[in-house]
Amino acid sequence: MKLALGSDHVGRELKLKLMEWFDEIGIEYKDFGAYSSERTNYPEYAVPVAKAVVNGEYDRGILICGTGVGISISANKIHGVRCVCCSEPYSALLSRNHNNTNILAMGSRVVGLDLAKMIVKNFLEGEYEGGRHQVRVDEIAQIEKTQSLG
Ligand code: RB5
Repeated sequence: MKLALGSDHVGRELKLKLMEWFDEIGIEYKDFGAYSSERTNYPEYAVPVAKAVVNGEYDRGILICGTGVGISISANKIHGVRCVCCSEPYSALLSRNHNNTNILAMGSRVVGLDLAKMIVKNFLEGEYEGGRHQVRVDEIAQIEKTQSLG
């Protein structure tokens, strides 16, 4: 499992703590920035992470800003992304089981480190169930096709 990670300046501290944890438990990742605490804009990190996941270079993405909202909205603009903005483990798990989410977004002003770890664990371990859910996921992909045609 290879992860693409990104954050803005607000989410950076939580991202760095999660990176330490990934090192401990042996999960491979690449940090797509932000690399400093200087004020910056979350779409600039959401897009490269989203593209790296959609093109198959990375298995999943994790994005962090202050609330998780701006960075998840940005990621979901990239076709093929199903990004869940999540502050509790139940939705993280169900988003994998039912929605086949490929990116998790969290808010560093919303969740603490221990809760973030529980959310990430569910997101990484949750399996997509397919079946009746595939019809709905296909309908989401269909929306993207319609949008592409303008
Ligand atoms: C930055 O101040 C903040 O707006 C950003 O981190 C995020 O919370 C936006 O959704």
